[in-house]
Amino acid sequence: MSEFKKTILCIGAGYVGGPTMAMIAAKCPNYKVHVVDLNEERIAAWQSDDLPIYEPGLLDTVKVARGRNLFFSTNVDAGIAEADIIFVSVNTPTKMFGRGAGKAADLQYWEKTARQIKRCATKDIIVVEKSTLPVRTAEAMERILREENDDFKVEVLSNPEFLAEGTAIRDLENPDRVLIGGRETPAGAQAIQDLVDVYEHWVDSDKILTTNTWSSELSKLVANAFLAQRVSSINTISALCEKTEANVKEVARAIGTDSRIGSRFLYASVGFGGSCFQKDILNLVYLCEHFGLPEVAAYWEQVVEVNNWQRTRFVNNMITSMFNTVVDKKIAIFGFAFKADTGDTRESPAFYAVKQLLEERANVVICDPQAIPNAQIDLAGVKGNISYEADPYKAAEGAAAIAIFTEWSDFKELDYQKIYDVMSHPAFMFDGRNIVDHQALYEIGFNVYPIGMSKKVHFTK
Ligand SMILES: NC(=O)c1ccc[n+]([C@@H]2O[C@H](COP(=O)([O-])OP(=O)(O)OC[C@H]3O[C@@H](n4cnc5c(N)ncnc54)[C@H](O)[C@@H]3O)[C@@H](O)[C@H]2O)c1
Repeated sequence: MSEFKKTILCIGAGYVGGPTMAMIAAKCPNYKVHVVDLNEERIAAWQSDDLPIYEPGLLDTVKVARGRNLFFSTNVDAGIAEADIIFVSVNTPTKMFGRGAGKAADLQYWEKTARQIKRCATKDIIVVEKSTLPVRTAEAMERILREENDDFKVEVLSNPEFLAEGTAIRDLENPDRVLIGGRETPAGAQAIQDLVDVYEHWVDSDKILTTNTWSSELSKLVANAFLAQRVSSINTISALCEKTEANVKEVARAIGTDSRIGSRFLYASVGFGGSCFQKDILNLVYLCEHFGLPEVAAYWEQVVEVNNWQRTRFVNNMITSMFNTVVDKKIAIFGFAFKADTGDTRESPAFYAVKQLLEERANVVICDPQAIPNAQIDLAGVKGNISYEADPYKAAEGAAAIAIFTEWSDFKELDYQKIYDVMSHPAFMFDGRNIVDHQALYEIGFNVYPIGMSKKVHFTK
């Protein structure tokens, strides 16, 4: 007899599967939690103190449970055979081929997982969708698992993950809400209750929302679309501020104090990135097109288009300001991660900016406290003069400009006089995150270009 009440399996040990399972294992010592992945290197890293992803507080959480009730392995089949509850947390990127290319979700990893579960399961199971999926995907999972199957019963639940990279542990420990969707049948209700029992180990009952499956699946896409829409909205206003001498920080503060609007996600920037916003909005757009709602699709697609426009606008502004040429100029890119406190570079605005700068034949040096290994992978096939330097003081040596792409607090605390002294002059600072003290840098001698605020330059017209 196992010492554990139930065995939870998670397929996919990525940015979501790893931290989520570490939290469940830490909070539920009476459940065995087994995390599996096809990627051997990733699993080996989860078993070490050099985890495959950087996330504040993650290592401590993993250490609470690893070896006690938290296990990592590549043995997916054996894991399935033993499990009572199977979380599926595999990647669901944007499909890049065939029908729906560039918009629809690529469900190949998802479907392969469904078939593998069917092949290896030995007892009644609950399958939990953790990955972000198009509405009604649970139906496909159920069909695959239930077709010609008299061996075991299965209920499919949707339990989307709302954690944000960089604050994953905080978000998991103290979530705004946990959302669980399931069938409106007695078996569906029982499966929902079984999952509620897991979360109730540490989340207040009133924060655990239960809905039908389709509302839960759709809510995740809609949450990301609404958040991204706020970023794109304030970014459009940043351009207007630059033309009118209004200050986008002041505007954001003024409207953000309206409790109906709220202050979060109103920071103007070079644009949003990350693996989720663009992919999930495009997924929503594809669903709207599929259901014959072209106006709704066009409305949400514009959120992504504005993001692309803001990224390009930032780099165009760099080139124009530097006398319309960056050929052979050294440009220090401060930050390559898509946001602070993560090494994740998926869809990072910095990637697109670097490509654009290389096309203009600039000489680019990339500086980031966590993301250099990922930057090297992302830029491996890109032609041009690229180098990597973790020390910002060395990265700035001889540079004509610094461009800030990630809001790492490290970049706020640098000695910018020391940096200015080793740069070539005139020295430019393009602050794509509005994080440095613009007046102080201007007084040192920099020509400063923030987002959505008047530039501070030493040139007379
Ligand atoms: N990253 C985020 O911030 C975030 C937040 C909420 C939701 N999500 C969603 O969660 C899902 C996972 O995202 P992620 O960022 O963790 O992705 P990821 O790419 O970091 O991890 C996915 C993992 O699944 C593994 N995998 C794929 N197919 C497999 C199979 N058949 N068997 C075993 N392992 C397999 C891959 O090797 C990879 O390690 C996506 O649907 C995403 O949209 C992500």
